[in-house]
Amino acid sequence: MRLAIIGAGGMAGQHAQRFQEIADVEVVAVCDLDGDKARTFAEAHDIPEAYADLATMLARDDIQAVSNATPDGVHKATSLAAIAAGKHILCEKPLATNAADAEEMAAAAREAGVINMVNLSYRDAPAIQLARELVADGRLGRVMHVDASYRQSWLVSDAWGRWDQDSQWLWRLSGAHGSKGVLGDVGVHILDFASFPVGDIAAVTCRLKCFDKAPGNRIGEYTLDANDSALMQVEFADGALGSVQATRWATGHHNSLTLSVHGDRGALRVDLDAARDKVQVCFGEDVHPARWTELAAPPTPSIYRRFVDGIASGVNDSPDFARGAALQRVLDACFDADARGDVLHLERPLA
Ligand SMILES: NC(=O)c1ccc[n+]([C@@H]2O[C@H](COP(=O)([O-])OP(=O)(O)OC[C@H]3O[C@@H](n4cnc5c(N)ncnc54)[C@H](O)[C@@H]3O)[C@@H](O)[C@H]2O)c1
Repeated sequence: MRLAIIGAGGMAGQHAQRFQEIADVEVVAVCDLDGDKARTFAEAHDIPEAYADLATMLARDDIQAVSNATPDGVHKATSLAAIAAGKHILCEKPLATNAADAEEMAAAAREAGVINMVNLSYRDAPAIQLARELVADGRLGRVMHVDASYRQSWLVSDAWGRWDQDSQWLWRLSGAHGSKGVLGDVGVHILDFASFPVGDIAAVTCRLKCFDKAPGNRIGEYTLDANDSALMQVEFADGALGSVQATRWATGHHNSLTLSVHGDRGALRVDLDAARDKVQVCFGEDVHPARWTELAAPPTPSIYRRFVDGIASGVNDSPDFARGAALQRVLDACFDADARGDVLHLERPLA
């Protein structure tokens, strides 16, 4: 299978490496608006052709599939162009920047009959797959309470580079550059991480905050107006309540995802920092003494592998564009809930 990559930034490097590890795949081209960046990327990853013009790359009949690693605000235009050219597509998350666009992309992919997936990459953690099985098998009983957190710290730690200098981070802080803040960026991951095992989200409340972080909240062409902390309360379709949060201010963490699910007969915990392939569980006779044990999760094929397998078999695996659009509807509801501003400010702060 011949595959091309759209975008030659940070995440595209992962795409190149992961697809090149798959024996049946040849990564034959990369395209970036910045032609020099595309060429440098192609040389670094041993990719034969580099393009600055997407239409020219998509016109190649020998390319069957693309992976889209452009910034969030560009996913729609670039993915629709790839779908119109008949390419199977793996698109980065979030699928789009609003539900209407995401639904349009899902409909286009469905009508064109191309394999479509969204790179909700934490599905690759064996622990979340096992967590889903345990809930589905009824090991926790009826799920009552859920707690999910995504903690990033790139606004306070330079471990991933300088957010105030590097365009890769600056576009994520700016609405005009297509960012929906931490909610769109990694809130989408943690909403998927909670709802993949527990089930559909039926209701939300949300509070978003954008903290001051530069003089006039501007750096060069970037207005720093996108949210960088998000607190959500969700109700799942079966009635369970959940607290879901995402922040870029999680000092002491780099990139941490945790999930706790409590049912009336048992509980589970996933902490990807501790282990991607272990689930802590408490059920049966361990419930009363609140004793936890550890279950090992079997290996899970990556989304890259499952995308390639889907093209070979003609069977679309999950998460597909329809799932991306469903998550986008939750994100839109969170923005609406936050805009309503239903917050009770205390007359006198608690002393
Ligand atoms: N799944 C994950 O875990 C994960 C992790 C990191 C990033 N991402 C996602 O990957 C995407 C890219 O993020 P990144 O950190 O690599 O960003 P980046 O800024 O490093 O790279 C994006 C690249 O796309 C190029 N580009 C912009 N518009 C283009 C267009 N119209 N055509 C072709 N190229 C274009 C830019 O020039 C840039 O080189 C984002 O949607 C992000 O949310 C996902």
